[in-house]
Amino acid sequence: MLKVKTAVLVSGGGTNLQALLDEERKGNIPSAEISLVISNVKDAYALERAAKAGIKHAVFSKKELGSQKAFEEAIITCLEENGIELIVLAGFLAILSADFTRRYENRIINIHPSLIPAFCGKGYYGLRVHEAALEKGVKITGATVHFVNEIPDGGKIILQKAVEVKEDDTPQTLQRRVMEEAEWSLLPAALEKVAKDLLK
Ligand code: GRF
Repeated sequence: MLKVKTAVLVSGGGTNLQALLDEERKGNIPSAEISLVISNVKDAYALERAAKAGIKHAVFSKKELGSQKAFEEAIITCLEENGIELIVLAGFLAILSADFTRRYENRIINIHPSLIPAFCGKGYYGLRVHEAALEKGVKITGATVHFVNEIPDGGKIILQKAVEVKEDDTPQTLQRRVMEEAEWSLLPAALEKVAKDLLK
């Protein structure tokens, strides 16, 4: 069966990458093949997860490459050499320019740990998202998978899942619950949905 060649871009622990690899192995992402992992951080644990799964991986550091332009060119070259058609941002913390996102219009998806349009956009990443949700006192939060365009967290929404906030939540416990109850199932489901549409 034809599959969409997919790259996953990471910066950190890679639990979302792991969820994708696990679901792919279980046969739950039949329309995509994760064939490349790219990190902008040399010692990201996500790279070890890629290595363990036998998936090709590469590191590109903006600092070492000297500019945003050189950084993106290196990534694009790597994506093209590997025939990548679809990109998943799974905890990728580097900024991508409008040139980059336009080049891959409707072919980059991102997971964000809130129900967009709440707690998203510039400055809302990592624990900050969950701190803001707790400060506001929302009773429901969740995760969103969306297409990536030049507006941070501004592209078309693909899937969302709600998660309950508990009275005694800390940013850390809320972050963990959002991952367990939403992110790790939502991202594989969204990848399959988008890849399936691309195959049509
Ligand atoms: C997740 O919370 C994701 O929503 C956000 O960054 C975090 C990445 O975690 N974009 P991991 O590296 O997948 O464990």
